Amino acid sequence: DWIMGDYITEAVEKIRAQVGEEEVILGLSGGVDSSVAAALIHRAIGDQLTCVFVDHGLLRLDEGKMVMEMFAGRLHAKVIHVDATGQFMGQLAGISDPEAKRKIIGREFVEVFKAEAAKLKASGAGHQGATFLAQGTIYPDVIESGGAKSKKAVTIKSHHNVGGLPEQLGLKLLEPLRDLFKDEVRELGVALGLPREMVYRHPFPGPGLGVRILGEVKKEFADLLRLADAIFIEELRNTIDANTGKSWYDLTSQAFTVFLPVKSVGVMGDGRTYDYVVALRAVVTSDFMTAHWAELPYSLLGKVSNRIINEVRGINRVVYDISGKPPATIEWE
Ligand code: XMP
Repeated sequence: DWIMGDYITEAVEKIRAQVGEEEVILGLSGGVDSSVAAALIHRAIGDQLTCVFVDHGLLRLDEGKMVMEMFAGRLHAKVIHVDATGQFMGQLAGISDPEAKRKIIGREFVEVFKAEAAKLKASGAGHQGATFLAQGTIYPDVIESGGAKSKKAVTIKSHHNVGGLPEQLGLKLLEPLRDLFKDEVRELGVALGLPREMVYRHPFPGPGLGVRILGEVKKEFADLLRLADAIFIEELRNTIDANTGKSWYDLTSQAFTVFLPVKSVGVMGDGRTYDYVVALRAVVTSDFMTAHWAELPYSLLGKVSNRIINEVRGINRVVYDISGKPPATIEWE
């Protein structure tokens, strides 16, 4: 609509005025905020923007491919795809504590990003490299890192995704979404031509599947989890609730699969199996501070369970998580 059109025109002018002839780098994560920020900044300054997409090997199925297709393919943005799976898996080997895993993933992310930024500067095809770091910070992030945080007595989970990066890189910050709420970011994304499916995706944590594989992270577990999770999400998207006409994906706030490194006995054909378990998690919430488990139809749960057990070799049992927040959290770690 024209109001969003005006907003884009204004935001584009502001970005051009702020950046001038300089160069910008942005860490693309596949999430809504960094995607919309990238699309907006690209609209404003085109090739003065370089996106760095760090694949830590803990993304969802085909996520890397989708991000590259969208930004490099359709938007013709400059995107560097870094496959750092080996590096992340190496650092995570032997580590099973959730907070320790978060710290390692956050730290490695900064390392990989810094290395890419340095390479870009060294290659500096006729320019000095980036002087701006763009981030998809939105208004609720601004509030959260201000007063609200200090009131919290205990930290349940540390969410420091890329904190402190601009200082470490010696770059100026460009945060074009700072004044926007999530709904507005989504509307902006659609107006910029991003697919609704991308813009209305459930939130995905920075540490990715790293906190959805309980205990030690292994590539083998991540591969199984990716397949199982893709089946769950596909069925949620394809199952329409007759009362509302909406898909169960849209009726839930967040849904995903958790890998349990536990083996149980099963029977398949004439044979005995001894394989891993996954848990399905789906919640309904308005603020993610409290949440109800989603009352998914049994038929949907049954179909997902059958498909995962039949299609994902290595998983022979599926359970559904019926815990609210509190006392449970949404993620299992
Ligand atoms: P919990 O599990 O704390 O999750 O009930 C609340 C919301 O936060 C997300 N979450 C994270 N997001 N880094 C993130 O960027 C993290 O380390 C992290 N841990 C949890 C979770 O997916 C849910 O949306």
